[in-house]
Amino acid sequence: MTGIICGTGSYAPSYVMDNNEIATMVETSDEWIRERTGVATRHIIKDETTVSMACEAAKKALDDGEVKPEEVDLIIVSTISSNIILPCTACEVQKELGAENATCFDLSAACSGFVLAYNTALAYLSGGVYQTALIIGSESLSNLTNWKDRGTCILFGDGAGAAVMRAKEGRTYLPATHSDGMKGKALTCLSRHTHIDAKRMKDPEYYMQMDGQAVFKFAVKKVPEVVNEVLSKNQVKKEEIVWYILHQANSRIVEAVAKRLDEPIEKFPMNLQEYGNTSSASIAILLDEMKKSGRLKSGHKIVMAGFGAGLTWGATVMEWG
Ligand code: ACO
Repeated sequence: MTGIICGTGSYAPSYVMDNNEIATMVETSDEWIRERTGVATRHIIKDETTVSMACEAAKKALDDGEVKPEEVDLIIVSTISSNIILPCTACEVQKELGAENATCFDLSAACSGFVLAYNTALAYLSGGVYQTALIIGSESLSNLTNWKDRGTCILFGDGAGAAVMRAKEGRTYLPATHSDGMKGKALTCLSRHTHIDAKRMKDPEYYMQMDGQAVFKFAVKKVPEVVNEVLSKNQVKKEEIVWYILHQANSRIVEAVAKRLDEPIEKFPMNLQEYGNTSSASIAILLDEMKKSGRLKSGHKIVMAGFGAGLTWGATVMEWG
């Protein structure tokens, strides 16, 4: 028994902030941001919330997979930017969808979150515990962004992506995942409430803070390692992989990973140019775009890999349903 993705959906706020707009807030330029990160624009919430974006993406994924809300047994929302602490985002999504039979919880693992949500749902489906799961990555990172820090504000964006998974006879590929809490200081954020807490807004520690070079070096080393690990664990050859769907943090990271794996860059689709880094939403949004554009075909072997705060990183192999 295994689980396959049978439907995808995504949502991006309609407000688009380009690099020139960022250059009005901090000393930077469109040219610098494009060259160092590959990012040209990002979508930023106005009226949307982490819950509302999660619901929009989820509704589209259910439609796409022809799954009714009451058929969903499990809802996992991966987020580091929930609107409120209680109830969790997944329960709020359940309420909005009317998915009354679902067990719901949130998962917090930053940019590795969607891969871990997928692995968690897969374990439940392949173990026969549940039949249908809805996994969502939704982030309002603009609420956690220090718009005076040019080292971070250029990178992030808001959005949500979702996938519906069904239990199915077939092979379950084992994931490879790791964490290193000792290196947690490389990427921190002390509060989820920077947007409403005026006092804390003055203290940069309460926003996302990052040692950019440390995170860059970590990603470029660990992602190829964990991809090789997951392939060898499952006895899958690189040549069999049609797509490597990586967390969309920085085009230079994706290019460096492709080079270290000695795989053509064409196997590494990117949409970070438009969205920036949307943390746990990024892989889900890209999967949805690839499905809608017909690039994902039944039987394609895919590697998904995430990396980020924690530090956390991981990869998983799947066969497209
Ligand atoms: N515009 C112009 N100049 C800038 C900017 C900017 N936005 N930001 C930094 N600089 C300057 C620095 O001040 C520095 O100037 P100096 O040489 O005079 O001191 C110079 O540019 C180089 O700075 P670096 O920090 O060395 O720049 P780097 O090439 O490392 O790029 C970046 C910075 C883009 C942040 C890069 O390190 C990176 O992408 N790191 C990975 C970040 C990432 O992916 N994080 C997400 C992790 S996922 C998660 O869990 C959220």
